[in-house]
Amino acid sequence: MVRQMVNKRHYNKDIRPDYGSGGPLIVNVTIAIHDIYDISDVNMDFTIDLHFRQYWRDSRLMFEPISNITRLFMGGDFYELIWLPDTFFLNGKSLQTHQSTASTRSNTLIELSHNGSILYSTRMTVVASCPMDLSYFPADRQRCQLNFGSYGYTIDDIIYKWTPGKILLEDRNLATFTVSGLNNSHQIRHNDVGSFSHLILYIDIERSTGYYLYQTFIPAFLIVLISWIPFWLGHDDHVERVAIGVTTVLTITTLITSTMESLPKISYVKALDIYLFVCFIMVFISLIEYAIVGYYEHSRRIRFIHQCLCLKPIATGQQPTNEPNHHQQHNNILESRLFMDQTSSIDYYSRWLFPIIFALFNAIYIWFIFSVKEFYHHDI
Ligand SMILES: *[C@@H]1O[C@H](CO)[C@@H](O)[C@H](O)[C@H]1NC(C)=O
Ligand SMILES: *[C@@H]1O[C@H](CO)[C@@H](O)[C@H](O)[C@H]1NC(C)=O
Repeated sequence: MVRQMVNKRHYNKDIRPDYGSGGPLIVNVTIAIHDIYDISDVNMDFTIDLHFRQYWRDSRLMFEPISNITRLFMGGDFYELIWLPDTFFLNGKSLQTHQSTASTRSNTLIELSHNGSILYSTRMTVVASCPMDLSYFPADRQRCQLNFGSYGYTIDDIIYKWTPGKILLEDRNLATFTVSGLNNSHQIRHNDVGSFSHLILYIDIERSTGYYLYQTFIPAFLIVLISWIPFWLGHDDHVERVAIGVTTVLTITTLITSTMESLPKISYVKALDIYLFVCFIMVFISLIEYAIVGYYEHSRRIRFIHQCLCLKPIATGQQPTNEPNHHQQHNNILESRLFMDQTSSIDYYSRWLFPIIFALFNAIYIWFIFSVKEFYHHDI
């Protein structure tokens, strides 16, 4: 029936509705978001699955209601017969329409009312770019947008409008993000061809810090704690001390490398980098500390041995009797025992200094992360 109607009226689908008879055509838009996923820091894009609905009026398609039928639902094939707005996504990297189960055509619906109003609904998946500022990563919040408008018709021909009402989103909790806000706006874009009407959907997403807490922060924190164990070992346990030191340095290096691999190569410093860098420095300084203690104790021991050797000939020379000599030897052994067991003063101070510095750093860092989050919430 519609096919006949279109043929009979010499409908030209290349000419927009209301052309030459007044103002621009108003296209109303609603979006129902099905899902948002694959938010990628590396590619700086996201994938959105949505029902995209456009409403406009084409007076050439008005018809007399036939026995109470005022609206006609048309399948996918019908869109070849009528004029359709040439809407495109400005920041879209790729667009995929879904196949319906009934035909090989894409999953579209056209509803035509007797007064010429048309609803054109399409289910599609769009991959859209979303430039991100990762300075506060992983406590960051990003504002992604979906920007669309007509490709060829300027504001003299088509004006897009948001249908008042809420943008629908089924599930706000994504794998590593939470959608914290949705908003929309209208924009006129000027370029050398003319001015174009554009609609923008804003999607505010907040990263779930929990994932990075378990994957990166806690392991790095624990590695730093392990690097302090040698301060409690005796300075004679060289092998154990060096083994722990080297192992912790290697472990934290591996952790940093694997974390950086999953993130884009950006030239500025992220909040996460600062934490990992400080952990690395802490572990590295611990290793340097063992070296200093080792060297210091070694030279102290040599000095002590020299002292003993110097004392002995004088002692034997002054008193040739056996008894005091024996007594002195006993004293010497006792003294050297005490000397050997003595904790190095460097170790002693390190036991306090390292934890205090690291605790202070953690306190400042946590305060910083919370104030960033607070600032974002204030911003909403
Ligand atoms: C578009 O929306 C406006 C109100 O926002 C309404 O008056 C108009 O009838 C709508 N047009 C169509 C074709 O639905
Ligand atoms: C949505 O954006 C408009 C301006 O574009 C702004 O006035 C309004 O406060 C925003 N709403 C929310 C909930 O962010």
